[in-house]
Amino acid sequence: MTDQSCHTDHYAVLGHPIHHSMSPKIHAAFAEQTGQQLSYEAIDVSPESLQTRLTQLPKEGFCGVNITVPHKEVAWQYVKQHGLLSERAALAGAVNTLAWTTEGLLGDNTDGQGLLNDLQQRHGLSLAGKRILLLGAGGASRGVILPLLAAHPAALVIANRTAARAEALAELFAPQRANCVLLGCGLGHLDRLTASAGSFDVVINATSASLGGESITLPTGTLTSDAFAYDMMYGKALTPFLQAQQNAGVRHLADGLGMLVEQAAVAFTLWRGVTPQTQPVYNQLRNDLSNK
Ligand code: ATR
Repeated sequence: MTDQSCHTDHYAVLGHPIHHSMSPKIHAAFAEQTGQQLSYEAIDVSPESLQTRLTQLPKEGFCGVNITVPHKEVAWQYVKQHGLLSERAALAGAVNTLAWTTEGLLGDNTDGQGLLNDLQQRHGLSLAGKRILLLGAGGASRGVILPLLAAHPAALVIANRTAARAEALAELFAPQRANCVLLGCGLGHLDRLTASAGSFDVVINATSASLGGESITLPTGTLTSDAFAYDMMYGKALTPFLQAQQNAGVRHLADGLGMLVEQAAVAFTLWRGVTPQTQPVYNQLRNDLSNK
């Protein structure tokens, strides 16, 4: 719950660059919908000034901020030093939500819960007992592993261009895997792994390949015939990754716009104690994107 001594309820997203951010629009819509009085702005913060800005913001009446590229890891270090990390943020090694509360500074990572809410609620996907393939072993991937494991899949395989990074992540999360088979491997080993252990029901692209307009080609047979392909990136048209999956015959496709809205809703709930409805905001953003 937010510190009641915050006179004006200011919130912001900090990034660099930040002009493209949809977060102010999302949070303004949540605030209007739930009748919450708050302001939310986008603040461009250079990497050199992040720590100073984080120290100033609560003194300026800010009750919380979202953190985006490229600050999530440095902000995590800041919270580790000056506040408290949630368990999911501690393991993610990155934060996307900070709150200055009566107990002090709290750092959370709502990306993974945002992904789960999007997959399970918006797209009606059940992950329990499924075989999930997670592509990428950077910050985006690391941030969603714990929530994915909490959904009780039968297997979670992290595949990355650089195999060692995927193997290291699988090792890091091994204590949290419960009954799930958790493996890390190189993208180049996927064909052998699929041949020996079976195809995947769900593939999630957490690489930044789509940013550079590149796709990732999965060996034939990697996915089941009824598989679901998800890209954390989003855009006006299908991302290169989703386009490649569609070309390969995958029928269930979704991009990361829903995750963006859902992670924001989890942050909003943390700050304000009320849960906004995400679907109207998602519809509005989808509409805005398609008219761009
Ligand atoms: P983020 O915080 O967005 O995850 P990152 O930590 O730089 O960013 O990680 C980017 C991820 O995308 C990595 O897993 C990277 O693979 P490597 O570890 O081998 O570098 C992956 N990636 C980026 N471009 C890619 C491409 N063209 N093909 C496959 N993987 C790619």
